Order: sequence, then structure tokens, then C-alpha cells
Amino acid sequence: MNPEALRLWDGPVLGIETSCDETSLAVLEGLSVRANVVSSQAKLHEQWGGIVPEAASRAHVEAFLPAMEQALSESGMNLSGITAISVTNRPGLVGALNVGLTAAKGLAYALEVPFVAIHHLEGHLLSPLLDDPDLRFPHVCLLVSGGHTEIVRLEGLGAYRLLAQTRDDAAGEAFDKTARLLGLGYPGGAAIQELAQGANPERYPLPVALEKEETLDLSFSGLKTAVLRLVESEGASLDKPDAAASIQHAIARALVLRGMQATEREGVDCLTLAGGVAANERLRQSLAKECERRGWRFRTPSAEYCTDNAAMIALAGSWRLAAGQRSGWEAEPESTAPLPGPVES
Ligand code: KG4
Ligand code: ZN
Repeated sequence: MNPEALRLWDGPVLGIETSCDETSLAVLEGLSVRANVVSSQAKLHEQWGGIVPEAASRAHVEAFLPAMEQALSESGMNLSGITAISVTNRPGLVGALNVGLTAAKGLAYALEVPFVAIHHLEGHLLSPLLDDPDLRFPHVCLLVSGGHTEIVRLEGLGAYRLLAQTRDDAAGEAFDKTARLLGLGYPGGAAIQELAQGANPERYPLPVALEKEETLDLSFSGLKTAVLRLVESEGASLDKPDAAASIQHAIARALVLRGMQATEREGVDCLTLAGGVAANERLRQSLAKECERRGWRFRTPSAEYCTDNAAMIALAGSWRLAAGQRSGWEAEPESTAPLPGPVES
């Protein structure tokens, strides 16, 4: 993207992300990530096989100050060097969001610096810019995480159009739920990827929903049912690595299919992949290959900016702050919210 269009806040921005189960604090200056600390609660929630909202809020409170201290120390600065704050306020778990948002307000008040409340998905959508400031618009983004599976057209900063989404489970949820059926830990995506290494993805044919339908929508609930049936019918003879590889193959096939169809239909020549599931190597490689075959650009952030992180939130806030957007004390956490629009004045 041309540097003029990507005008960022002049000075260190503190990014805060607490929408789900990662407490993340980052310091961003221009496009340079001076620190990106992520304290994950995955181990805590593993015992319940999923996220318990009340436990998540408490854990954010505990992790917040140590993570902030670490982010400041890694970036070699004091709190007094922070010139603006960018915080996720939507969508997500309200109690969890509130921890970050309340902290952001307190810090903004005490430091007498502006703050801006950010839509979590805008962070994911813009995350490829952290590694590639030359990213071109318009392009299509395949946004795949534990809570979201969306296909979005990005016309530019703040100009996003939702093209399609999942009709039921998110892609990350499909990884998590099927991993659980295989007796693997939570979160399941990384566990499935690891177990699938070197295994046979063709061993257990699994369905790709809506494959032949005239839609860009996705659906993963049928996959979960198919894996349940597979586990029940195979019993002790189930080859778990092959099952993991087959699951990964089915999810990747569905996402690659829609990614290609959406990019083609929108008449653009660049596809990005963002969100926690974008950390999946098999998916990254397949999309890269298919885009290359068509002469399209493919961009995806490095793995640390795929899963939830505050660097991407600081980036989304940085351009909004530079364009004059500010939030007030009345800003609230919101469990659901449409994609954000242009800068509000
Ligand atoms: O973006 P994220 O950190 O949190 C949400 O906003 O949801 O995404 C978390 C999701 C989880 O479902 C996790 O299983 C999945 O991303 N994930 C992966 C991998 N690493 C994380 N899925 C597939 N392969 C991976 N390597
Ligand atoms: Zn996320």
C-alpha cells in the first residue's frame, strides 16, 4: 500500500487485547513492533475443554499488569513514553473485554493520552500489514479463527465488506471440537497439525460442506458429526494421526475452495489469510500454491500475529488515531458488532 495511505500514529502506541483467552499487550511504533507479549489461558481452560467466561475475566485481571510490565521492559521504555492507547472493545466475552477496556481508560486518564476502542476483527484483517506494509488494496481476506470464519473484501483501511461467513461452527471451532473427539487437548488446531505430520490425509474421506452449491458460505458442523461417526465406527482401530491429517485436509480444502472462489468473483489479485487458524502450515501452503498458480499475491502474517495478539490491535488503532478518531469514557464492551466503517469524527 502506498505509504501516504498508511498514515500511522506518530509515537509509541500501547495495544491491549483481552477479548477471549489471551491477555496481550504490545508496543507499536510506526510499523515496528517493539514488544508483543501474549499470556495465554489455554492451560487453564483445557480442564473444561473450552473457555469459561468468568474464569477468563479473572485470569485477564491477574495477567494484565505483569504482561504490561514485560511489554514495556522489552520495548525499553517506561509507561510515560506511551503516547496513545488502542484497545479491543468488541466483539468478544463482555467480562473479558471489560478488563482491557477499563485498564485502557485508567491508563489514558492517568497518562493524559488519547485512546481508541477497536473491533477485534479489524485487528485480524489488518494483521498482514505488520509483515508487509506494501499490501495492496482491494483484496480479499479469509479470516479464520476460533470464533470467526469470514470472507471479507477490503477496499482500503476502514472499508470492509463481508462477503460470506460460516453458517454454523467457525473453522477453529471445527479443529477444536474434532480434536476433542480424538482425545487431544485444547486448543485443538495446533494439536491436530502436530499429530497430522507425515500422516495420510486421504485415509478417511471427510465431507466438504456446500461444495457444489452456488455460495461462498462455509459450514463445519457436518464435519464434526462425520468425525464423531468415524471415531465410533473405528473404535480402537482408528489411526489417530491419519484421522488428524484427514480432518486438517477437509478443513483446508473447504477454505482453499472458498478463498479461490471469492478472490475470483471479486476480480482482485490478492488474497490474505488471517486469524488463529492461519497459523496452520498445511492451509498456508495450499493457499500459497493455488494463488501462485493463478498469478495472485498471497499474504499471511507470521504465526505470532495470526493468533490473538495486541500488535494487530495497536496497528488498527494507530491509523484510526492518526486519522483523528478518539473514544470517550462512555465506550463499552460489546459481545457482538458489525465490521467497523471509516473513521468516526
Ligand atoms: O484468532 P484466535 O487466536 O482466537 C480467536 O479470536 O478465536 O484463534 C484461535 C483458534 C483456535 O480455534 C485454535 O485451534 C486455532 O485458532 N489454531 C489453529 C492453529 N493454531 C491455532 N488451527 C489450525 N492450525 C493451527 N496451527
Ligand atoms: Zn481473534
